[in-house]
Amino acid sequence: MPENSLVIVSNRGAVTFSRSGSGERTHSRGAGGLVTALNAVSRQSGNAVWISSATSEEDSAVAKEPAPYEVEDLRISLVEHDPEAYDLMYNRIANPLLWFVHHGLYNLPFSPDFGEDTRGAWERGYLSVNENFAEAVAKMVEGDDSPTILLHDYQLYMTPKLVREKVGGDAFVSLFVHIPWPEPDSWRTLPDYIREGVLESLLHANVVAFHTSRYARAFLSTVEEVLGVDVDFEESIVRVGGREVWVRAYPISIDPSEFEELSRSDGVIEEEKVVRNLPGKLLLRVDRMDLSKNIVRGFRAYGRMLEKYPEMRGEVTFLAQLQPSRGGISEYDAYAKEIEKTVEEVNEAYGNSTWKPVELSMEDNFPRSVAAYKNYDALLVNAVRDGMNLVAKEAAVVNEKGGVLILSEGAGAYEELKDGAITVNPFDLDEQAEAIHEALTMPEEERHEKARILRETVHSNTIEDWVESQMKDIAAYRGR
Ligand code: G6P
Repeated sequence: MPENSLVIVSNRGAVTFSRSGSGERTHSRGAGGLVTALNAVSRQSGNAVWISSATSEEDSAVAKEPAPYEVEDLRISLVEHDPEAYDLMYNRIANPLLWFVHHGLYNLPFSPDFGEDTRGAWERGYLSVNENFAEAVAKMVEGDDSPTILLHDYQLYMTPKLVREKVGGDAFVSLFVHIPWPEPDSWRTLPDYIREGVLESLLHANVVAFHTSRYARAFLSTVEEVLGVDVDFEESIVRVGGREVWVRAYPISIDPSEFEELSRSDGVIEEEKVVRNLPGKLLLRVDRMDLSKNIVRGFRAYGRMLEKYPEMRGEVTFLAQLQPSRGGISEYDAYAKEIEKTVEEVNEAYGNSTWKPVELSMEDNFPRSVAAYKNYDALLVNAVRDGMNLVAKEAAVVNEKGGVLILSEGAGAYEELKDGAITVNPFDLDEQAEAIHEALTMPEEERHEKARILRETVHSNTIEDWVESQMKDIAAYRGR
């Protein structure tokens, strides 16, 4: 590896490889907002290598290749894990456990229950996968005295410490947390070896980054209260063990031109035929099928709106484009069933032979989502909690209808987008029902004004700004 190398590490990779029927290697896009963002970092920085987990058979073949694999101007290196260790990391510790604590999803009188099995999954799963990542990083930056190592998200919390042990002291290491950071009391839900272990590891990074200043502050409070370490709230710095850890907020964004271009593509234009054929106004949601997205409550709020305003029946279709996610985890499987059941209930209660109130699509159809972005009258983003929510930003830049955003106070995007949206408490069904009605009946001028504010806000902080502000801080940290 050359001097000053740049390595990006995340569990989920840019693409997943497979073999086509004719035996050729093919690939498909990785899921979620994180991958979208890292694509931009990787492309902007030119020679970066992006390390992630092998998750398919063909990924394992790629993992065995000696040099980074080049695909779509990315340089990809995959790490193979022992399947049992990966299963414990992904299905027992990262999701649901850490994910649930970060998003406040536990029903505390009944769950979680921690015991020896949790410790086993932590040690044999989470730690072992993190160890593999640290080894892969160390190998990749061998011979470079000052590499830049950008670690991403909650699957890699133990990697900063392990990387420090393996790579020289001049390495710059950051860990970006892409999900909300909870308040100290919620963090205390975790067993001590996790709640302290994770914090101690994170304090081996030079920068710990978040999407909002609220999460950064919550992290500082957690470090202070749980570890009893002094933190500097004013400068947002933790000084510990002779090290200085900068705690920063960089609100993630999108590349507006990428979405504008996509919106003109043949695939999207084809899908617009389907979307435009739906009766009435278009209420839209586009989400990974995740409990944090508050999908069930969204349908119930819509049902309440149809109950209270019968004149809206037949005048609107709620299109829900839901991408399957984390199947095999019992909470997610149960949630998918609950979604289907709730949709059936709403369709039965208010629909008729010519009108279906909810059109539910449970498959990954990106062109259809973008087609719907262009055409919605109202977009529902009512997440319980969400690190940022890029759907709100993607949709705002391509929408052509003066569509109205209904935005949860629990989404990271709330800090930036609230002035251009109708904002809601994600737990208040009546408020959401009213917000849906208001969005669908808002006078033209007001709709377009709100849409303009959203578009301008997104254009004023793009993914390029996100990458640049981090790069600037890395230079400042190194030069201090
Ligand atoms: C969120 C997380 C990412 C994750 C993505 C998709 O955006 O912050 O770390 O990759 O969801 O989830 P998955 O479990 O499919 O990787």
